[in-house]
Amino acid sequence: MKLNVALLKGDGIGPEIVESAVEVLNAVGKKYGHEFSFTPYLIGGIAIDTYGEPLPKETVDGCLKADSVLLGAVGGPKWDSLAGNLRPEKALLGIRSAMGLFTNLRPAKLYPALKDECPLRADIVENGFDIMIVRELTGGIYFGERGYRDGKYGEEAYDTESYSRMEIERIAKVAFETARKRRKKLTSIDKANVLETSRLWRKIMHEVAKDYPDVELSDMLVDNAAMQLVRNPSQFDVIVTSNMFGDILSDEASQITGSIGMLPSASLGDTKRGLYEPIHGSAPDIAGQGKANPIATILSVAMMLLYSFDMKKESDAIVNAVDKVLEKGYRTADLARGKTPLTTKEMTEKIILEI
Ligand code: IPM
Ligand code: MG
Repeated sequence: MKLNVALLKGDGIGPEIVESAVEVLNAVGKKYGHEFSFTPYLIGGIAIDTYGEPLPKETVDGCLKADSVLLGAVGGPKWDSLAGNLRPEKALLGIRSAMGLFTNLRPAKLYPALKDECPLRADIVENGFDIMIVRELTGGIYFGERGYRDGKYGEEAYDTESYSRMEIERIAKVAFETARKRRKKLTSIDKANVLETSRLWRKIMHEVAKDYPDVELSDMLVDNAAMQLVRNPSQFDVIVTSNMFGDILSDEASQITGSIGMLPSASLGDTKRGLYEPIHGSAPDIAGQGKANPIATILSVAMMLLYSFDMKKESDAIVNAVDKVLEKGYRTADLARGKTPLTTKEMTEKIILEI
């Protein structure tokens, strides 16, 4: 198959990790007879520096033309003082929304080889864990009305959370379908004891559940969920939650896998075209030093092969290669703990060797 992938390298470590993932895709293409071509576009801080805006129209058009999109990371101290609508992060929200990517899949599993890197006690992770977080991605407080106004006590800022029935129903369906293909257990996380949006969320989750009698649905309040993730992570199979709760809980889930440098993500909408990115940020402190862990981005292209291109065996080849490299004890700096770490390039080469 011939496929075109739009590359949004972004800022900080973005270019290095995207480069690694491209090399891995090329290796897969060579082995399985596919031809991947790549078209780069600017996003984030680098786009601000070049065009004066974080998400140029050319980038959006390019992504909508491509078969799929791979993104590194955006942002850095250089652009931190810009107004909210001009910040690099705004581009991330903009591209998710422009591509209609309302589903964000963030798998967090404990690799047996990384058990010692997990910050939780050995008896807590004895049975490992394998969680799929389904995060709603184009609604909620990230996209609600916001601004500044004169309030009761003077200057005041506000952001609003709103969710429509349509938005909740469609993410619910994705979550139930996802659970159906796994261990058939879905936990819906909300704050229904306080928030009206959460009460509508919970009601609709239970309505949709009637179409999925084979999936066991339970509700959990978000504060409790934050606690349960470190108390007993193996209780979770699929988690479905709102945009902001998903943002927070997925960082927590990533840390108990050993390193945030391990977690890939897939953002999906109604078509096969998705956007794939590591869940970590641009890590400006280590940019350009060859220290970044490329695994989250490499696993993100494994998700691209699976979800956008229906290439299961090719996707498995990457996942298995990462498993093998970790089992052999190779580690980048984030996971090295005293051992001599591999550079980004060396880690990429080790993974390619196993493909
Ligand atoms: C993420 C990031 C983004 C988000 C930021 C950079 C806008 O934290 O993808 O998790 O909050 O969605
Ligand atoms: Mg985040």
